[in-house]
Amino acid sequence: MIISSPTDYREAARRRLPPFLFHYIDGGANAEHTLKHNVSDLSEIALRQRVLKNVESLSLTTELFGRTLAMPVALAPVGLTGMYARRGEVQAARAATARGIPLTLSTVSVCPIEEVQKASAAPIWFQLYVLKDRGFMKNALERAMAAGITTLVFTVDMPTPGSRYRDAHSGMSGPNAAFRRMLQAVLHPQWAFDVGLMGRPHDLGNISAYRGQPTKLEDYIGWLANNFDPSISWKDLEWIRDFWKGPMIIKGILDAEDARDAVRFGADGIVVSNHGGRQLDGVRSTARALPEIADAVKGEMKILADSGIRSGLDVVRMLALGADAVMLGRAFIYALAAGGEAGVANLLDLVAKEMRVAMTLTGARSIGEIDRNMLAL
Ligand code: FNR
Ligand code: LAC
Repeated sequence: MIISSPTDYREAARRRLPPFLFHYIDGGANAEHTLKHNVSDLSEIALRQRVLKNVESLSLTTELFGRTLAMPVALAPVGLTGMYARRGEVQAARAATARGIPLTLSTVSVCPIEEVQKASAAPIWFQLYVLKDRGFMKNALERAMAAGITTLVFTVDMPTPGSRYRDAHSGMSGPNAAFRRMLQAVLHPQWAFDVGLMGRPHDLGNISAYRGQPTKLEDYIGWLANNFDPSISWKDLEWIRDFWKGPMIIKGILDAEDARDAVRFGADGIVVSNHGGRQLDGVRSTARALPEIADAVKGEMKILADSGIRSGLDVVRMLALGADAVMLGRAFIYALAAGGEAGVANLLDLVAKEMRVAMTLTGARSIGEIDRNMLAL
C-alpha cells in the first residue's frame, strides 16, 4: 500500500489487524455520532489564507511542562497498544522519542512502565485511571516516579466504559469471543506470528506487576467494567496531587465549568477530550467545545486537546481553536499497527510536514503565532 498521507494508515491497519482489534480501536460508543463529529467538525474549521508574510524560517518547537518538544504533539494513552504491534508501547515510545515528543503510557498497557521507560531515551508520560484498588494506583505512581517519569496524565472521563457495540459484534467481547478471536488470528497470519506469538506476554503489564501474577486479557472489556471506579470526585484526587511531584494533567474535560474546577484543583494542564467518542455518544465534538474552554482557562494552565485529529492540518486547526498542544490517538495507533516504530516515525514526519505547509499558507512562523486570529469565521 502506498502511504502518502497520515490518513492512509487506517486502511493499512484494517488489513493487517484481526477485526476484533481493528474495531476496538476504530469504534466508538452507541451510534458513534460523537466519533463522526469529532472528525467532521474539525475538518470543517476554516483557516484564513494569508500571503506575502515571509515565512521562510519556521519553527514547530514548543515549551511544555519544562521541556522543549519538537512539535506541540504527544501520543495519547491507548490501552492494549502491545496487541497492535509487537511490544507496541516500546515501539511507539522509541518513535516518539526519536521525533522529539512524548508517548503517554496507558494504565492498561501490555508493556509495563519499566519496560517502556527503559527503551526510551527521554521520559515518557504516564496515564493513570481511577481503579477501585487504590493500592494499585499508589503502586503505579511510585513505579512511574522510580522509572524517572515526571508528567502524570490523570484520566477522569471513564468512571465506567461507554457502550461500545462494535466490540460485541467483532469478538472483542460477547458470546464465543475467545474462539472467534482465535479464528481471526488464523486468518491474519502475519499479525498472528509477529504480535500474537512473538509479542508475548500478553497481559496488563502494570496490573500484573502490582499483583505479582499475570492479569490476562480474555475478558478485557469485563475487567474494565469491574475495576474502574465510578465513585471518584475531585476530593479523592487530592492525595494524588500531594503525592505526585511533577506536572499533573487532567484528561477528559469537555465542559468549561469542569475546566475551572481543574484550575482550582491545581492541575498544570487539561486534555479537552471526549475520549475519541468512546464514552458518551451525543456529547459535543472537541472542536466545538474547545473555544469556550479556552475562553474560561487559557493562560491559567496548559490546554491540550484530542479526539478527531487525523492530520497535521487538524493539529493546526486545534491550536487555532485554543489548544497549546494536542494528543494523537487513533492516528498514531493505525500507523503503529501498519508499520510499527517506522510507521509511527513516518506518521509524525507527515504530520510535521503538513503543519509546516499549513503554517506557511496561513502566515504563521511559530506555534505561538497560531491563534484564533487564524480562523476564518
Ligand atoms: C483510548 N483512549 C484512552 N485514554 C486513556 O486515557 N487511557 C487509555 O487507556 C485509553 N485507551 C484507548 C484505547 C483506544 C483503542 C483508543 C482509540 C483510545 C483515548 C485516547 O487517549 C484519546 O483520548 C482518543 O483516542 C482521542 O481520539 P482520536 O484522536 O483517537 O479520535
Ligand atoms: C478505552 C479505554 C481503555 O477507551 O480507555 O477503550
